[in-house]
Amino acid sequence: MNLILLGPPGAGKGTQAELIIERYNIPHISTGDIFRAAVKEGAPLGLKAKEYLDSGQLVPDEIVNGIVKERLQQADCGNGFLLDGFPRTIPQADALERCLAELNRKITAVINIEVDFEVLMTRLTGRRVCRNCGALYHIQNKVEKVPGVCDHCGGEIYQREDDFPETVEKRLQVYRNQTEPLIKYYQNKDLLFSFNGEEPILVVFQKICEVLEGKF
Ligand code: AP5
Ligand code: MG
Ligand code: ZN
Repeated sequence: MNLILLGPPGAGKGTQAELIIERYNIPHISTGDIFRAAVKEGAPLGLKAKEYLDSGQLVPDEIVNGIVKERLQQADCGNGFLLDGFPRTIPQADALERCLAELNRKITAVINIEVDFEVLMTRLTGRRVCRNCGALYHIQNKVEKVPGVCDHCGGEIYQREDDFPETVEKRLQVYRNQTEPLIKYYQNKDLLFSFNGEEPILVVFQKICEVLEGKF
């Protein structure tokens, strides 16, 4: 199963990804997580990416495309993969198509999660993340058991630097201009399945599974 998760910042891509990869046993490829890990390690990629991440802008296509291409060739992608946050521009989608053609693979489905922009603001400014394992929390609707401590690994819970209100606005604007056109792009290829991301997390997941398992 070769899947893409599409949706604005805060739609719940990472949240659904946690559930999907466990159920279907495929690797989660989040370009945002790759960049954040590189920033944390002080790797060269991190130095290049940091200013884009912090200001809510997209990292240039050439950089992202190369990373994803390399990642898709790794052995654990043999049974499929779940792309989260990529592609994010039409040129990235075209690059992905070329890359998959070389690997003799095809996209199975594009899961598009839709959420109203006002709801996104609340979700992102209230989001908290485990610094160690990346598990996702929210100060209102997904609270950790012990304050500040991850339920899964005991790691420290923090707020992403790009989740402050000014940067969130910028990210939503970037989504509108550069990423939203991908909805039509994948609709035209008959690959797009849209979900109401304002429903509870497990309801959204259930509906995604029904589509993926062909139950409609
Ligand atoms: P990235 O990490 O991809 O961030 P994003 O797309 O902005 O999306 P988010 O991770 O913010 O949101 P999400 O949809 O995963 O929501 P989540 O599940 O966490 O990218 C970050 C940056 O990296 C970019 O700005 C860019 O600079 C760079 N980058 C990455 N990819 C790139 C690319 N391809 N090209 C160029 N640059 C790139 O959920 C959010 C919150 O809501 C959580 O607190 C969660 O608990 C809660 N929640 C989730 N679902 C529900 C629900 N159903 N009901 C109630 N609450 C919910
Ligand atoms: Mg995410
Ligand atoms: Zn953790």
